Amino acid sequence: MAYPEALVAGAGAEEEDSPAAARLAMMELANMISVPMALHAVVLLRVPDAIWASGANAPLSAAEILPLLRSPGPPPHPSDPSLLQRLLRLLSSHGVFREHYSSPSSSSSPSSSPLRRYSLTRIGRTLVSSAGVGGPSYADYVLQHHQDALIRAWPRLHEAVLDPAGPEPFARANGGVPAYAYYGGDDDANALMQRAMAGVSEPFMEALLAGAYDGFAGVETLVDVGGSSGACLAMIMNRVPGVRVGVNFDLPEVVAAAPAIPGVKHVGGDMFRSIPAGDAIFMKWVLTTWTDEECTQILKNCCKALPEGGKVIACEPVLPEETDASRRTRALLENDIFVMTIYRTQGRERSEEEFRQLGLAAGFAGFRAIYLDPFYTVLEFKK
Ligand SMILES: C[S@@+](CC[C@H](N)C(=O)[O-])C[C@H]1O[C@@H](n2cnc3c(N)ncnc32)[C@H](O)[C@@H]1O
Repeated sequence: MAYPEALVAGAGAEEEDSPAAARLAMMELANMISVPMALHAVVLLRVPDAIWASGANAPLSAAEILPLLRSPGPPPHPSDPSLLQRLLRLLSSHGVFREHYSSPSSSSSPSSSPLRRYSLTRIGRTLVSSAGVGGPSYADYVLQHHQDALIRAWPRLHEAVLDPAGPEPFARANGGVPAYAYYGGDDDANALMQRAMAGVSEPFMEALLAGAYDGFAGVETLVDVGGSSGACLAMIMNRVPGVRVGVNFDLPEVVAAAPAIPGVKHVGGDMFRSIPAGDAIFMKWVLTTWTDEECTQILKNCCKALPEGGKVIACEPVLPEETDASRRTRALLENDIFVMTIYRTQGRERSEEEFRQLGLAAGFAGFRAIYLDPFYTVLEFKK
């Protein structure tokens, strides 16, 4: 090892004690954009599907992967796999791929280069659908986050700090159009958003419904507010036979593109005006994107739509009170800045206590938070 261990150690080392380690940490932060961009590139090229190969997950070299790729543009040039290998090396260091390394002496290759092959780790496998190629996975979420209209917003993030009451960076960068209106006005963006939501929501719902949560007992009519394609509602109705009527409520242009689902009625509307009545309301990843005033309005409309004793079951990221360097806290805080940039300058992730206060302000008497998943917390607001 050519460098002192303290210099190359990751988070947790006492960087501040060593100027060289501090410079290295800042160099990593300053170049961090390479990580999501490399991730976006391999997803766009469908590298995870090529390696996964219906479950084979056999380690492949970049040269072996290249001819398997489905390029969105011109056909890949097979003569130089080194560029793909560079992306794979970076993403291996972030846990997406596992590098299987053979040094030149141990490989049968006559060349002096080491042989590097790559398989998917458990993290990388989230980019592959369990329903087969093209099915929902985190791949669409990666694509959704890196489309041009969203990328344009990021260099304007500082404007949110200077003008907190002004439009969010996304609207500033896209002719004043807010993100949901942008998706609604573009068929491809609308479809990508629905696939992205299904890809992230389905594994969470699978775990929620596998016995971890019993809050749907006694519910016959369930309304999913901001339900997107209706994927979450379909999963609930498959697993909870007592839920006989499902209402998937979302913006008119969203439900117009949603697939027909047996037992589910798609209803287009605006949750700031009114919400269809039901025994209970499910609402996943909706409150986070809105301001406190907007959340209070949404929750008031939910309260009006429920009978006495009815409840809202919201699944939202919930921030810890204290800041730390754990993956959970980082994932939550990164999503918080995403919301500030794309949806609402004052939309944000909240602590459990802040959610409790929002419920009280909207007229709910009861509240409980159930921590079943590291990213989404189940929040029950009881009328
Ligand atoms: C972050 S997505 C969550 C989708 C879905 N609940 C899930 O978690 O997979 C937020 C959803 O809220 C919907 N939405 C935005 N504004 C709305 C409005 N005014 N009324 C109803 N739905 C709205 C969006 O179209 C989108 O489907």
